[in-house]
Amino acid sequence: MKTWLVTGGAGFIGSNFVLRIRSRGVARIVNLDLLTYAGNLRNLDAPHSDPNHVFVRGDIGDREMVRDLLVRHQPETVVNFAAESHVDRSIDGPDPFIQTNVVGTFSLLKESLRYWQGLEEPSRSAFRFLHVSTDEVYGSLGPDDPAFSERTPYAPNSPYSASKAAADHLVRAYHHTYGLPTLTTNCSNNYGPRQFPEKLIPLMILNGLSGKPLPVYGDGLNVRDWLYVEDHCAAIEVVLLGGRPGETYNIGGGCELTNMEVVRSVCSLIDQLRPESPHRPHSSLVSFVKDRPGHDRRYAIDAAKIQSELGWRPEETFETGLRKTIHWYLENTDWVSSIQTGEYQEWIRKHYGES
Ligand code: NAD
Ligand code: DAU
Repeated sequence: MKTWLVTGGAGFIGSNFVLRIRSRGVARIVNLDLLTYAGNLRNLDAPHSDPNHVFVRGDIGDREMVRDLLVRHQPETVVNFAAESHVDRSIDGPDPFIQTNVVGTFSLLKESLRYWQGLEEPSRSAFRFLHVSTDEVYGSLGPDDPAFSERTPYAPNSPYSASKAAADHLVRAYHHTYGLPTLTTNCSNNYGPRQFPEKLIPLMILNGLSGKPLPVYGDGLNVRDWLYVEDHCAAIEVVLLGGRPGETYNIGGGCELTNMEVVRSVCSLIDQLRPESPHRPHSSLVSFVKDRPGHDRRYAIDAAKIQSELGWRPEETFETGLRKTIHWYLENTDWVSSIQTGEYQEWIRKHYGES
């Protein structure tokens, strides 16, 4: 069976990807994750007992360790999910974003190039380096602007998106200059099981269930394009299997919603699923708070390229995906308590104040 090296596979999207690949026996996975506050081994409960899933705790920036892993496991593919991923944390403290997202990706590219250059055919032609990026690199849209396409110029606005943009440029350069067979995906906002509750949807679900305020930044009219995580993982798989080296692929749900529309949908689903809750209607918990500095107004993705070249389309609607997501959080209370650690409480206190 072929081997894929996946980085950041204990985080939200990475763990959903690892579970998907292993449940269908597509590849053996070597999962390299530093287990920062966002990484959680409980996300990998099923693959833990799987002999074709090897978990390694480590930093993508540790060149010797990455070199050793590549030589030892001879992967056909490297998929780079590892990153600092939360915009608000990047505003609060950008240093780890530069370290992991820029320097870490650079190290991974350097070691992957050295490994690829030493491969014989047919392994050399089969090798792929897939870098998982974001739509935030394109900046912010006005209400009538066309959606981001692969040709939209980069204009990142936050330390997070600037660090992701820098990494994307390095990936591009490693293909253009050295011929490394790279692929880059730029995806819109994901939601689904195992998302750390610092992000909008899980934060609203968990605060709503416990009757806490639902903090909406600014006027609540910023727009995001929402995609169920399983659809993102399916898109990455089709890009890996059929994407053209050196190309980038935009991935999105075709589902633009304002933050208030998202929060209202979460509230009304919790109202339905928890009819006995003393906090109904949950929308009464909405609390408008100070806006995020430099808050991008609107993101939208034009996914025509991946649809026409690779036949990918999302399977979930926002309604079906959100229902699955809320069910997952309701059924996985152990997971929720395991991540609500001291560090999480500290972030919530620091970012939102005591209330
Ligand atoms: P996440 O924060 O949930 O997980 C990140 C994972 O990377 C964690 O397991 C963490 O321990 C690990 N990690 C961090 N630094 C590391 C390092 N130096 N070495 C090894 N592992 C390290 O993030 P996510 O939401 O799952 O996002 C995964 C990727 O997808 C990121 O690159 C992100 O930029 C991108 N992305 C996310 C979204 C989204 O909506 N969440 C959308 C588009 C793209
Ligand atoms: O677009 C893709 C990006 O989506 C990914 O690259 C990032 O890794 C991911 O975190 C996400 O970034 P956002 O900043 O869009 O996601 P977040 O969940 O933090 O916020 C979504 C929107 O909700 C945004 O407009 C800010 C707003 N928001 C967020 C939080 C946490 C609130 O109004 N209140 C909140 O408490």
